[in-house]
Amino acid sequence: MAALEAWANLALRWLHLVAGIAWIGSSFYFMWLDSHLKPGAERRDGVAGELWSVHSGGFYRQIKFMVAPSEMPETLHWFKWEAYTTWISGFLLLALIFYLGADLNLVDKAKLDLAPWQAIGIGLGSLAAGWIAYDGLCRSPIGQNLRAFGAAWFVALTAAGWGLTRVFSDLGAFMHVGAIIGTVMVANVLLIIIPNQRKVVAQVLAGQAPDPSLGKQAKQRSVHNNYMTLPVLLIMISNHYPMIFAAPLNWLWLAGLGVAGVTIRHFFNLKNQGKTQPQVLAFGALVFVLVALANEAARPKPPTTDLVPTYAAVRAIVDQHCITCHSANPTHKGVPMAPAGTMFDTPEGLRKHAEKIYTRAVATTSMPQGNETGMTQAERASLGAWIKAGAKAD
Ligand code: HEC
Repeated sequence: MAALEAWANLALRWLHLVAGIAWIGSSFYFMWLDSHLKPGAERRDGVAGELWSVHSGGFYRQIKFMVAPSEMPETLHWFKWEAYTTWISGFLLLALIFYLGADLNLVDKAKLDLAPWQAIGIGLGSLAAGWIAYDGLCRSPIGQNLRAFGAAWFVALTAAGWGLTRVFSDLGAFMHVGAIIGTVMVANVLLIIIPNQRKVVAQVLAGQAPDPSLGKQAKQRSVHNNYMTLPVLLIMISNHYPMIFAAPLNWLWLAGLGVAGVTIRHFFNLKNQGKTQPQVLAFGALVFVLVALANEAARPKPPTTDLVPTYAAVRAIVDQHCITCHSANPTHKGVPMAPAGTMFDTPEGLRKHAEKIYTRAVATTSMPQGNETGMTQAERASLGAWIKAGAKAD
């Protein structure tokens, strides 16, 4: 069972990554293409521009028709399964880790003592609420102005980040903010972009003039998706960086890095339109650096003590607070094997991971998970002093 879960996790993560690359890659490509089209030799009705490129041993000539060509080609490629596969694999991964393992990975009893079903309900509810709020904003007058919309959606997502970090484990909260963004992006494809394109195709086939408002709405959603890519990707790799997710004010660092991501994306969008503005890129980089500096400055001082404990004393602390999960044969419910392969049942294991242990259990309180066993600040200080003194087994 444990092995099955680990292999399912690997398969889903791999698929999620590959599908995400295919989706975002093709979406970046079309954004780039759109902004490089030039009026060419083709002057037929409805031609918006054309572009020549060279790749993999051949030359390509693309022609864009706005709103649609007068006749539909026999084969039309839609580019939708990349998005759907990304969402399906991502949702299954979320369910496997955070819903099947809700007890361990989603609920943080130190924050809120939720039953697994309650936590799962809040998680699923947040995905649905995210879409309803986003879609509502798009259809409201705010949706007509990209900047106003961006500001409003940013505030909504930051509020979601703040709220979810109150009720879920830090990682669980972060992944749900990422899942809200990802769900909105895929729902844009499934519920707006593709249906609108289908209507246009049907109108052309019926010999009617296609309704330009359909294309306009699809474009609005596709521009939003473009700006959301960098933030959502950042969230998906944030689990490697406890300095962000396990820090106090983690929702704020996430918001700051989101701003950096959107700004950097904006620079490339402008550049694609031939409006290179290095100051926009510099601003994005500056925001990133400011987040890093503020994050470092805001980190509380790790608890310290002048008394370096004996190995036996450290052993007792680790045995009480860590070993149910971080050992060759974990006994904790829902932990089939040592998380990330980190085992602390020997002095070697402790020494090998000393720096990470310091980060997770001394400098931050992100371990033990949810502090189920009530590890005290004094115990953290002792563990820290032992690590600082060289993590020696006497
Ligand atoms: C209830 C099970 C559980 C307990 C108890 C627990 N951990 Fe963890 N630990 C995990 C899980 C699950 C992860 C992986 C998810 C994450 O990184 O948050 C993890 C990750 C870690 C990591 C990061 C490993 C890596 O390579 O990314 C460190 C370090 C760590 N724990 C240290 C500790 C220490 C020290 C203690 C005891 C003070 C402890 N943990 C107690 C479950 C536990």
